Amino acid sequence: MKALEHEEKRKRDIFENVTTLHMLCMYIMLFTLVINKDFFSIYMFPLLNYKVLLFMSVCLLLFVIVNLYNRRYYCQVERKGFNWLKISYVGYPLFMTLIILYILRDSSIVYPEIMLLLPVIIAASIGGQVFGLTMAALCAVILFLFEYFGHTSAVYSMVESNFIFLGILFVVGWFIGSQADSEKEQRGYLITLANTDLLTGLFSYRYLQDKLQEYFQNPDHQQSLVLILLDIDYFKYYNDSFGHLMGDKLLQIIAGFLHGLKLENAFAARYAGGQFALVLQGYEQSEAVEIAEDIIRKINDYHFYGEKYQPEGKVTVSCGIASYPQHASNSKELQGYAEQALYKSRSLSRHNVELYFSVFDNIEITHDEREILNSIRTLVSVINAKDRYTYGHSERVTYYSHRVAEIIGLSEEEIKWVDYASFLHDIGKIEIDRDILNKPSRLNEEEWLVIKQHPIWGSDMVKPLAKMRPIVPIIRHHHENYDGSGYPDGLAGDDIPVISRIIRIVDSYDAMTSYRPYRRNLSSSEALKEIQDYTGIIFDPELVASFERVLEEELEEMNQIV
Ligand SMILES: [Fe+2]
Repeated sequence: MKALEHEEKRKRDIFENVTTLHMLCMYIMLFTLVINKDFFSIYMFPLLNYKVLLFMSVCLLLFVIVNLYNRRYYCQVERKGFNWLKISYVGYPLFMTLIILYILRDSSIVYPEIMLLLPVIIAASIGGQVFGLTMAALCAVILFLFEYFGHTSAVYSMVESNFIFLGILFVVGWFIGSQADSEKEQRGYLITLANTDLLTGLFSYRYLQDKLQEYFQNPDHQQSLVLILLDIDYFKYYNDSFGHLMGDKLLQIIAGFLHGLKLENAFAARYAGGQFALVLQGYEQSEAVEIAEDIIRKINDYHFYGEKYQPEGKVTVSCGIASYPQHASNSKELQGYAEQALYKSRSLSRHNVELYFSVFDNIEITHDEREILNSIRTLVSVINAKDRYTYGHSERVTYYSHRVAEIIGLSEEEIKWVDYASFLHDIGKIEIDRDILNKPSRLNEEEWLVIKQHPIWGSDMVKPLAKMRPIVPIIRHHHENYDGSGYPDGLAGDDIPVISRIIRIVDSYDAMTSYRPYRRNLSSSEALKEIQDYTGIIFDPELVASFERVLEEELEEMNQIV
């Protein structure tokens, strides 16, 4: 059971217990009313049926009131300190007890004061020792007043006859209260333990998930929410070089920077391995970018042990940012988009801050089409999850295709189609079984036939979007080869749409440089060599030259950053 569900169940249990107790108090009170001859004399209600009818109606009315009241406020008994809610929860049985005592003041019923135990027990269970003892003292005063005004030998009578009972009231208040306090303390300790990351002292991954879920489940959430993910570049390399103890030390130092931020309405948590999350509530995206850049600057200025042996000669971090409501509408999306931004930051512009950017954000489409587009976007993330070895593939293909399109001088309008088509080119893979997509060995004939269908399925999926019509043929032909040996239609040369030819190159390059379990990933130059070997066969020679230029430019940019 998830922590949040567990907490919800606990609160429901409290609600049920308190409501049951309140109902019992009410029934006892009504019962004493009915059986009391003086209160409802035979002259007032000559027929017994009237009494029963009255009893039932009042019961029903009070039942509704008690239930509605408790339902409205249940789950909130844990508010800290002395508050009106706690007072009303305890005051209700106290009030009922007082009425019962008043009704039975002259009756022959033995020892009705025992009813005073009820408010003491509830007060001690809800509020702890101090609350329990205070209620016991209050009950003692009430008892004293009752006896004082009821009998002439008031004080002496109380001390003599109720001394033991008063003692019991205090003992019950003290004992149950101390049990409640100790349970509360223990619970607080366990919650802290579960919510804290042992190594770094930041909040744990579980706490982060609970808080995000809580935020999005609350229908009143108005404030914006920004999630910054930080990842230590080459953390595994650092661990392998200096051992896990030094790796842990590195995590603690970076956690120290997050500890020292002192931001309001914000918290930092350990995300995974060498990753951290920073959640900011009510902040603008630009503020979040500034905060992230500030962290990166501080880390850059710090001298870490053995940093000169890192691939870039120093310890660096990359940041990805996504926010609600600009990008995501729920916790899963927020994390997914922040991860995508982080991935982009790591793979394209290491040790930098990347704000999540979707190629679809600026497209002008109707409300219905927007909904279809959102579904398609979700499908892309499903494919990312399904085909676990190609995570971020769509984003990288979009990035490189965009740059190739710029170099060959496509118009702004055409570049827009390059972005959309590149992002969605493998959308048809949603139809393919996960086992085939992730198969570590070679595919058999039948499986290949299924794979070859994905450009057709993909183009069919995009067809319903009137505004996306231009990318339908691009998706359909992104696996055509320059010499006509590709699929699904065997088009060749210039018959293949130019954007499809661009995607063909970039898609292959990314597949070769990405990790696969059954083969090692090629380096950038090895992959480029492979592409050059098939120029004119699979790939368009002119576009290959442009792609080479993109890679060269990127290498220069990277060298400048380092
Ligand atoms: Fe494909």
